[in-house]
Amino acid sequence: MATHFYTASSLDGFIATEQHSLDWLLTQDIDQDGPMAYGEFEKSIGALAMGSSTYEWVMRHEEGRWGYTQPTWVFTHRELDLPEGAEIRLTQDDVRAVHAEMVAAAGEKDLWIVGGGDLAGQFADAGLLDEVWVQYAPVTLGSGAPLLPRRLDLELLEVARNRSFLCGRYRVVRDGADLANP
Ligand SMILES: NC(=O)c1ccc[n+]([C@@H]2O[C@H](COP(=O)([O-])OP(=O)(O)OC[C@H]3O[C@@H](n4cnc5c(N)ncnc54)[C@H](OP(=O)(O)O)[C@@H]3O)[C@@H](O)[C@H]2O)c1
Repeated sequence: MATHFYTASSLDGFIATEQHSLDWLLTQDIDQDGPMAYGEFEKSIGALAMGSSTYEWVMRHEEGRWGYTQPTWVFTHRELDLPEGAEIRLTQDDVRAVHAEMVAAAGEKDLWIVGGGDLAGQFADAGLLDEVWVQYAPVTLGSGAPLLPRRLDLELLEVARNRSFLCGRYRVVRDGADLANP
């Protein structure tokens, strides 16, 4: 079992604009069944976690439909509307407690931290992030929601081109937990 942060990013390290737009991303060419793409990745995933901005973007983008079949934890301090029948828990618990619940729910499968970057960072701070997968779009944004606002040391495991995207898969070598206890 491994915990992945799998995301697309601009070349200058932003995963959304300051207005939470992904227009710059959704217009890019990608083969969803190609190298390191979502189609294959998603099959390995047994549970998801995301922050409230990401959840609200998904709900806006999908017009209220929930496309994920895996149990999902949404981090928020607010009461958010949930789609009927979706397996979603709202939480503000410590990421360690949520991670343990996700592991129990995922069976043999892996965990996906969908975003944003700081939430992935919170899992890394607790020593719970194993891999970072980034699909870099050929765009710079200049500002926006940061990819992963932490100091982490990573090992490059795999690289691929998928049409317009440069895709990298990295193992977390040293995270917040290691840096606090060198
Ligand atoms: N490029 C991509 O592939 C990709 C992937 C994922 C996301 N995105 C986009 O990137 C943007 C990310 O937005 P973001 O940086 O604001 O991050 P986010 O993680 O989606 O949302 C941040 C919010 O989550 C809640 N939160 C985070 N940690 C929490 C904790 N420990 N306990 C309780 N609540 C917590 C807080 O909201 P409350 O005010 O509700 O408490 C916080 O303001 C979104 O626009 C999303 O659509 C892009």
